[in-house]
Amino acid sequence: MERDPIRLAILLSGTGRTLLNLHERIVDGSLNARIHVVVSSRANALGMEHAKRLDLATCVVERKRLTDETFQARITKAVSGAELVCMAGFLSLWRIPDEWLGRVINIHPALLPDFGGRGMYGRRVHEAVIAAGREESGCTVHFCDNEYDHGRIILQRKVRVLPDDTADALAARVFEQECLAYVDAIRMIADGRCV
Ligand code: GRF
Repeated sequence: MERDPIRLAILLSGTGRTLLNLHERIVDGSLNARIHVVVSSRANALGMEHAKRLDLATCVVERKRLTDETFQARITKAVSGAELVCMAGFLSLWRIPDEWLGRVINIHPALLPDFGGRGMYGRRVHEAVIAAGREESGCTVHFCDNEYDHGRIILQRKVRVLPDDTADALAARVFEQECLAYVDAIRMIADGRCV
């Protein structure tokens, strides 16, 4: 018998493209999950507009208005009730309480451990990959610990870097793979295939 849908908390700060991807896979039945809450570190994030339009539960925990201690506590409170926390373009650091370790994942648009770390997000990642002359890039889904883009890797999907690639063109090809990788990783965790 299929298990109950895994309850996800989605943490974002930006456009919410990963949120939209996960929501679409849930709606088309290919991902047995439910979005328990969408938490944003920015009140005006486009991802929050998507979440509201889709009638999802939302919570804003604005990094810039809070002390670090309060920010940490409010994020922890906001995700309670979820089974798995999925970072989806979340640009603040949530120091993961012990009880959540192993239940928080992130997707990064490069092949970690390369091209990760604080400040390495979005276009900058792809520019760095091209500048380094790499022939391969891709995406990484990993468990989170308390360092940026760090923690046990769950899976990676690769793309070729083309000779005349631009950062935007590479980002678009990587994002196609992100959409597949994140859904696969969530399925693996929900099915207990990732212990
Ligand atoms: C993800 O796709 C991943 O590359 C990174 O942030 C992206 C989503 O952020 N973690 P956004 O929706 O483009 O703001």
